[in-house]
Amino acid sequence: MEIKKVGILGCGLMGSGVAHVSAANGYETVVCEVSQELLDKGLGSIQKYLTKAIARKKATVFEKRMIADNLTGTTKLEDLKDCDIVIEAITEDIKIKNEVFGKLDKLCPKSTIFASNTSSLKISDMAKETKRPEKFVGLHFFNPVPMMKLVEVVKTATTSDETFDAAMQYVKTLDKVAVPCKDTTGFVVNRLLVPYLLDAIRALEADVASPKDIDNAMMLGCGYPMGPLTLLDFVGLDTTLSITGIMYDEFKQPQYAAPELLKKMVAEGKIGKKSGEGFYKY
Ligand SMILES: NC(=O)c1ccc[n+]([C@@H]2O[C@H](COP(=O)([O-])OP(=O)(O)OC[C@H]3O[C@@H](n4cnc5c(N)ncnc54)[C@H](O)[C@@H]3O)[C@@H](O)[C@H]2O)c1
Repeated sequence: MEIKKVGILGCGLMGSGVAHVSAANGYETVVCEVSQELLDKGLGSIQKYLTKAIARKKATVFEKRMIADNLTGTTKLEDLKDCDIVIEAITEDIKIKNEVFGKLDKLCPKSTIFASNTSSLKISDMAKETKRPEKFVGLHFFNPVPMMKLVEVVKTATTSDETFDAAMQYVKTLDKVAVPCKDTTGFVVNRLLVPYLLDAIRALEADVASPKDIDNAMMLGCGYPMGPLTLLDFVGLDTTLSITGIMYDEFKQPQYAAPELLKKMVAEGKIGKKSGEGFYKY
């Protein structure tokens, strides 16, 4: 089966990125948000990213034109009904995700593939709530989507070969590298990355060093392009807190437990770059 029209649910950090790369690579793309204000914010972030990337020669005017031609925004779920694939990138909460997939299941034809960009939920826990478990796949992109090459492609016990192949082909056409993964909590990257990020917060709690020094130590000592606390600010501390809850429930291992400082910062609304403040001010 060939994917021509792509629907994206959510135009936050990840949804806007997936919408960006889909439209830039020639797919007719529709992105759906809960309100016009959030939709405008998400679409605006694509424009901001493009302006900076073009100035740094990391994107082209052609890419900008492709996005203008191929991308539309909506606040109506019905506008996703004739898409060949719908990629969900909404809040990391199984109840919210399943509620929207339930509505989409009624709206979309049987042929539409459903994909989730979840970081930590099991794809099968969403697929089994729909009448199309064979059409359900995981597509886990990384932030910032236009820059990051990896997409984890998750096949559940019920995903059909045809669906999986179509998802792999879609990822290839975005000029990304697909890593097929088993349907386990956190897949490959978050299973390894989340304990490391939480340990950086625990190091800060223990007053081992300042945020900047923790970040510098990991960049200069390990050759990482970004320090863990900066990365957490980019990921979003609210999303990280949701992920830790899900991963701790699954593995019951202390390395996945949320540090008190993370909980406190989320309660105070200091959730990282998107709120203007996290471990750093923006
Ligand atoms: N932040 C990351 O680095 C990252 C990386 C990979 C995957 N993810 C995953 O991607 C998903 C989204 O994360 P994010 O960081 O983009 O979060 P975000 O908070 O930036 O964006 C989520 C967006 O979804 C919207 N939304 C909520 N319910 C909706 C609905 N019913 N219909 C349409 N839109 C709706 C919200 O208004 C919000 O704008 C999560 O599952 C997360 O785990 C995040």
